Amino acid sequence: MCWPCDLNTEATTQRCVTDKLQAIGGRFLAKVWPDDRLYTDIYSSVDDNRKVGAITRSQYGVVVFAGWTRYAGHRESDVKPHLPAINDQAGFLTVKNVLVVLSHPNLEKSKVNKVLTDGITGIDGVTIKDIYAEYGDFAIDVEREQRDLTAHDIVVLQFPLYWYSCPALLKEWLDKVMVRNFAYGKHGKALVDKKLMLAVTAGGPEETYRATGSNEYPVEEFLKVFELTAKFCSMSYDKPLILHNTYRITDEDIAAHSNHYRDLLSTYVASE
Ligand SMILES: Cc1cc2nc3c(=O)[nH]c(=O)nc-3n(C[C@H](O)[C@H](O)[C@H](O)COP(=O)(O)O)c2cc1C
Repeated sequence: MCWPCDLNTEATTQRCVTDKLQAIGGRFLAKVWPDDRLYTDIYSSVDDNRKVGAITRSQYGVVVFAGWTRYAGHRESDVKPHLPAINDQAGFLTVKNVLVVLSHPNLEKSKVNKVLTDGITGIDGVTIKDIYAEYGDFAIDVEREQRDLTAHDIVVLQFPLYWYSCPALLKEWLDKVMVRNFAYGKHGKALVDKKLMLAVTAGGPEETYRATGSNEYPVEEFLKVFELTAKFCSMSYDKPLILHNTYRITDEDIAAHSNHYRDLLSTYVASE
């Protein structure tokens, strides 16, 4: 079974998957984009000898791994039938792409979100998009954002709780980007089966977010609007990750939370 040879094309390698794997002694990693879009721009980082077994991503969210030279121009449906065989032969592993949409109006002055963001920076498979840095003027490039959403499997919205909700630019981003015929509606299937998760920080201590506390409801209740947004777009919704009491929290507790966040995103990347 030789994937590049069978599928012909611009692949420059003549070796089959197993040969190639043996040659590099690496693990075969690949991700196939879930809809039937063009399957394109898969290439490896082996030629420049940087990372054997590393993952390389194209702008379309397709990934490949050590072992390939350039391979372009196929639809997923061309490739899909070959995947089980590759899986059997070569320890095929699917990886996910995670997009963190970070929304903090003043990250430099942040006590916790800055640490959380630094903690997840550099994880293979995790892209961080700081929307206040990119669209401080609120002029969102909708097409670009939609392309980026399409190219990821898991979307994490990271933000400080502001007035029991998200900062204004994230709301604007949702309003402009998650529109009919993209995110929902008859022709809006771009987000189907993707996952949404929230990483939220809140000034109020946890005990204030109870029936007997000043905020009366758990933070999760205020975040239901995001859960329902996910449902509306046929996305799954994971339990939000919440950090309370940000004004008084110790550096140790921030670090522990940051590690937990990092581990969680790493788990997402490797999830089935
Ligand atoms: C405009 C504004 C509104 C806020 N609203 C809330 C709120 O509704 N509930 C809450 O627990 N904290 C609230 N806070 C506190 C922030 O959630 C907290 O400062 C933030 O999570 C800390 O993160 P950072 O250190 O990354 O800035 C608010 C802060 C600001 C500036």
